[in-house]
Amino acid sequence: MSQPLENKQPHKPATRKEMSRRQFLSYTLGGAGAFMMGGAALPMVRFAVDPLLQEKAGAEYIKVVEESKLTAEPQEFSFKRLQVDGWYENEAKLKAWITKDESGILALSPVCKHLGCTVGWNNSAAHKDQYFCPCHGAFYTKDGKQMAIARAPLDEYEVKVDNGIVYLGAIKPNTRVK
Ligand code: FES
Repeated sequence: MSQPLENKQPHKPATRKEMSRRQFLSYTLGGAGAFMMGGAALPMVRFAVDPLLQEKAGAEYIKVVEESKLTAEPQEFSFKRLQVDGWYENEAKLKAWITKDESGILALSPVCKHLGCTVGWNNSAAHKDQYFCPCHGAFYTKDGKQMAIARAPLDEYEVKVDNGIVYLGAIKPNTRVK
């Protein structure tokens, strides 16, 4: 009598899972799609954040007046500065009240420290030899110290003198008075 044939092949444990054709296609198409999306989105992200990556340069010095023209009495001078804000560039018209006395050259910003109106020198009969703001009545000494309304002294410009010419740089807090 013959015995039924037995499978003499040893059982082989599965070592790895085969990938179906459908899985292969979906992985391949998904990967290619993500790569293409990344390639398209990267320039847009770069464009959006580019101004933030630029190194901020300090304000450049602008030639304003000959030093010999300065006096102990404040005088108003106008000048222009190119301002860059992100992608927007414009030429700002700026003013400074400049004096030269025994303490040196002081160039004050005319922007009132109350709410930003423009102060003038000796522009109010009630405030002789002072800066006065017509908006709400703040007034300041010749060094820019606040006397009423405003809570801080007038800011000043960085000053540089080269070859008899006065150049003004960035605006900074007043260094003569508190
Ligand atoms: S803005 Fe100058 S007093 Fe108010």
